[in-house]
Amino acid sequence: MSKILITGANGFLGQHLTIALSKTENEVVATSRGACRLPEGKYQYRSAELTNKTEVEQLINEVNPDIIIHTAALSKPDECNINRELCLNENVEATRNLITHSKAFFIYVSTDFIFGEDGPHAETALPAPLNFYGESKLMAEKVVEETNKPYAIVRPVFIYGKVWPGMRPGFLHWVKSNLEAGKRIKVVSDQQRTPTYVNDICKGIVSIINMKATGAFHLAGKDILSPYQMAVTTAEVLGLDTSLIENVTSETFPEPVKRAKRSGLLIERARTILGYEPVSFAEGVKASFE
Ligand SMILES: NC(=O)c1ccc[n+]([C@@H]2O[C@H](COP(=O)([O-])OP(=O)(O)OC[C@H]3O[C@@H](n4cnc5c(N)ncnc54)[C@H](OP(=O)(O)O)[C@@H]3O)[C@@H](O)[C@H]2O)c1
Repeated sequence: MSKILITGANGFLGQHLTIALSKTENEVVATSRGACRLPEGKYQYRSAELTNKTEVEQLINEVNPDIIIHTAALSKPDECNINRELCLNENVEATRNLITHSKAFFIYVSTDFIFGEDGPHAETALPAPLNFYGESKLMAEKVVEETNKPYAIVRPVFIYGKVWPGMRPGFLHWVKSNLEAGKRIKVVSDQQRTPTYVNDICKGIVSIINMKATGAFHLAGKDILSPYQMAVTTAEVLGLDTSLIENVTSETFPEPVKRAKRSGLLIERARTILGYEPVSFAEGVKASFE
């Protein structure tokens, strides 16, 4: 049995991870900013601001975790671009505070945004972030690598899954609510991703913990899809009208922040070492609404 500290526990992945790990034999301490927004479960909750060194030192000393899973981040690329100092503090300095003050096995949740075009990318691909969010996550990866403590880096892509009360609805729910209301939606078809079902990341992280597996792992989905294909699959799985979904190009929605058109991650290393086998996107969508 290990004592596991999960950061960003009020966030989408953090909530799912906390609930998934609290069902294992491990002792789970969940931490996030402010009051606990998690559903009930077998975990303790500690509030902490991770950019504050003193608070982090206190947290680590009091919890004394064997494993830290660091999911907390400023995860919105547009916000990172506008407020770069905050982004560096939340994504890089918070990571440094946590890893510096601990002896724990450190699992850092990174992103496909550390890579550029020409995906899907393997763990051996050269990083080439296209925006400041990706740069900050890559800087944090380097902080983790350079401390010479045991670590794993996990990179998911476009996480989706069940949304609990109090969580902000994501893309799938946006598609569902619009189509149910009979509204037409425009979705881009000239981008590719390997969307990740949140329970698959949780299972992959449990395997990393059980095997004490180190290095980088791409815990993504197995299907390479455009957002348009994702919307159509969602509609098909939910029995909604696919003709309401209009296929458009990225030019329809000019974005302030550059994002890769051909992104996505290859999962062979995770398959070989961890026995990671994600569900198909259609299966993930079905499970998200059960
Ligand atoms: N979502 C995706 O599609 C995706 C894809 C690839 C990688 N990732 C990575 O996966 C991780 C989790 O993503 P997510 O979507 O679950 O993020 P999220 O929903 O935005 O949750 C992040 C959580 O971290 C907390 N947090 C941020 N800065 C903090 C700080 N300084 N001190 C304490 N808590 C802090 C936030 O607190 P507040 O609630 O108070 O803001 C929030 O609860 C991130 O590292 C992200 O970069 C996400």
